[in-house]
Amino acid sequence: MDDPTFHVPVMVDEVTSGLINDPEGVYVDVTIGGGGHGEAVLRALGESGHLIACDRDPAALNEAGRRLRPFGGQVSFLQCAFSSLAQSVAPHVRRHEAAGAAGILADLGVSSHQIDEASRGFSYHQDGPLDMRMDRSTGVPAVDLLQQIEQAALVKLIRDYGEERRAKQIAGAICRRRDEGLLSSTSDLREAVASTKPRMLNKSLARVFQALRIAINGELDELSQFVDSSAELLALGGRLVVIAYHSLEDRIVKTQMAPLVKGCVCPPRLPACVCGHEPTFKARSKALTATKAEIEANPRARSAKLRIYEKLI
Ligand SMILES: C[S@@+](CC[C@H](N)C(=O)[O-])C[C@H]1O[C@@H](n2cnc3c(N)ncnc32)[C@H](O)[C@@H]1O
Repeated sequence: MDDPTFHVPVMVDEVTSGLINDPEGVYVDVTIGGGGHGEAVLRALGESGHLIACDRDPAALNEAGRRLRPFGGQVSFLQCAFSSLAQSVAPHVRRHEAAGAAGILADLGVSSHQIDEASRGFSYHQDGPLDMRMDRSTGVPAVDLLQQIEQAALVKLIRDYGEERRAKQIAGAICRRRDEGLLSSTSDLREAVASTKPRMLNKSLARVFQALRIAINGELDELSQFVDSSAELLALGGRLVVIAYHSLEDRIVKTQMAPLVKGCVCPPRLPACVCGHEPTFKARSKALTATKAEIEANPRARSAKLRIYEKLI
């Protein structure tokens, strides 16, 4: 049976209107998760429109598969990470005799289901193994990373990926616990962070768990590769829609797309363009944010920033 509580998608209307230009085109949702956005996209497509639904997490693909079953052959599923998108998705797009994807959607981060499932190790509210891998068939679980990492590297990781000012104290507490053989679960990690007596415990926990999750899943590298691959995979007029939930993600999207939107690479001191580089993308709007009503109904929407780009040449 479908589980409607799997994950509440954010800014659904903004996603469908920003993404869909040609209802008969081939679309790619690279973060299908629980299939909420995917379902809205499929509802907006015409009879020959198609959605390629991707995720690196097999559990997400299973869940989305159940939810999207009523759409039959209009949707196909593919387990792949952003870093293998270019090789994995291009043949599927060609199978539909399309010159490229009409739209690509990425709703970044983890789903509520991944967070709520204690055994995945993403949640500091529940006790579970320190895993945090989106795809448990590859990579190293967080517990292994924490067993091996030098304290100075952990400080940097928490500071860079969690933007946590007290990274030094927290990393020290984590390493002490580890050296005492007391670090294997999310509760152990929570205890280590709490022992540094942060003023806002939940905020520090959120930042530390985010930092580890980003490191374990190589999220920022993945995102950077995603932006490059999408620019290639899109057809002319195709749309790229990205929803970011923290400034590290949003910055990557914005800075990687900026030169494609600007085109010209001449130094600013030149009075006129001599490079002749044309913009290859148009930014369709500034970053959009959720309405107050949506944030009240779905607090995850509070930090969402949605950017839309259209391929010009
Ligand atoms: C916020 S959820 C998407 C929720 C989805 N939009 C919905 O409506 O249910 C993000 C999903 O992206 C997947 N994901 C995150 N990074 C990924 C990557 N680098 N490659 C592939 N999938 C990724 C996660 O496994 C997760 O299922």
